[in-house]
Amino acid sequence: METKLLSVSQIDEAAEIIKRGGLVAMPTETVYGLAADALNGRAVADIFRAKGRPMDNPLIVHISELSQIKCLVREFPEKARILAERFWPGPLTIILPKSELIPDEVSAGLDTVAVRFPSNETARKLISASCPLAAPSANLSGSPSPTTAKHVMDDMSGRIDAVIDGGECAVGVESTVITLASEPPRLLRPGGITLEQLRDAIGEVVLDDAVMNPLKSGEQAASPGMKYKHYSPKADIILLKGKSEAFVRYVNSHNDGKTAALCYDSETEKLEVPFISIGKEDDYSEQANRLFAALRTADDRDFQVVYAHCPKPEGIGLAVYNRIIRAAGFEVKELEE
Ligand code: TXA
Ligand code: MG
Repeated sequence: METKLLSVSQIDEAAEIIKRGGLVAMPTETVYGLAADALNGRAVADIFRAKGRPMDNPLIVHISELSQIKCLVREFPEKARILAERFWPGPLTIILPKSELIPDEVSAGLDTVAVRFPSNETARKLISASCPLAAPSANLSGSPSPTTAKHVMDDMSGRIDAVIDGGECAVGVESTVITLASEPPRLLRPGGITLEQLRDAIGEVVLDDAVMNPLKSGEQAASPGMKYKHYSPKADIILLKGKSEAFVRYVNSHNDGKTAALCYDSETEKLEVPFISIGKEDDYSEQANRLFAALRTADDRDFQVVYAHCPKPEGIGLAVYNRIIRAAGFEVKELEE
């Protein structure tokens, strides 16, 4: 199949593809999503085939008006109302008990459904012109989420019907995922809405253990996506924790020719190896915005070992930490002062 590259003015054509049961990659404010009609189980099954995604990993349903959630969930508790009022439209996904309308392909056999109301205008227009859309990130399973239409094409060309080119994604990491299907609410994946913001809105929110740590063998993941190896570039990513001087010193003394550094702007001048900066050390939003493109660049340039400076796990930095620690297989090397 030939994958069409559509512009943001071709929403109607994209909506027709969706209504016929096809697959369209769309921009959102977080990352590009691979969308299909959420209520069409056969179309949703094609998403899994196109991505090479394990069938037991459920999908997020995207809406463009709050009223659409009513037929997707069995309950809409007070805490969901508060979160929706504060953070929707925006980069927050809320998990609730699912209604009977949700096909098994979407919920992967669970009794819950993840719902998100994106703020990206193109995504909202596409949903309004078609229907609620099931959409995982539009990458091949296991590679970094796409933040440009080119990233989507690099992974998906020939495998899906169309890509809408909406430019670069504003946030750059996937949405925050919180479950309200059990008490107390639990943060399953950090993202653009921070743990602090969630607690400020609804009080107690538990940080799921899988956000910072690998699953222990035999342990069930609250969010199935957490158990899969993610964001794994071809190079070995080695995470180094410590001050800038120690990071630079360590990297410069471990240069074997195919080595690169994933670093902050302030470190680039002192590094003696090729580098990819993810921005300013204290600007977590910028780091989130640049991380996935940086991992893809490391792949394109065929580095074998990438030394990455470990971000601080606070605010949006927690999302950066959560993604990079997966890319590094959960190994962090503490540097001496
Ligand atoms: O920002 C985003 O959320 C992007 C854009 C496209 O909206 N989407 C995205 O989808 O990141 P995906 O499929 O790559 O990640 C969804 C995550 C997975 O870890 C999945 O396991 C989890 O959400 N998830 C989905 N439904 C769930 C459910 N009912 N219970 C627990 N976890 C769920
Ligand atoms: Mg994904």
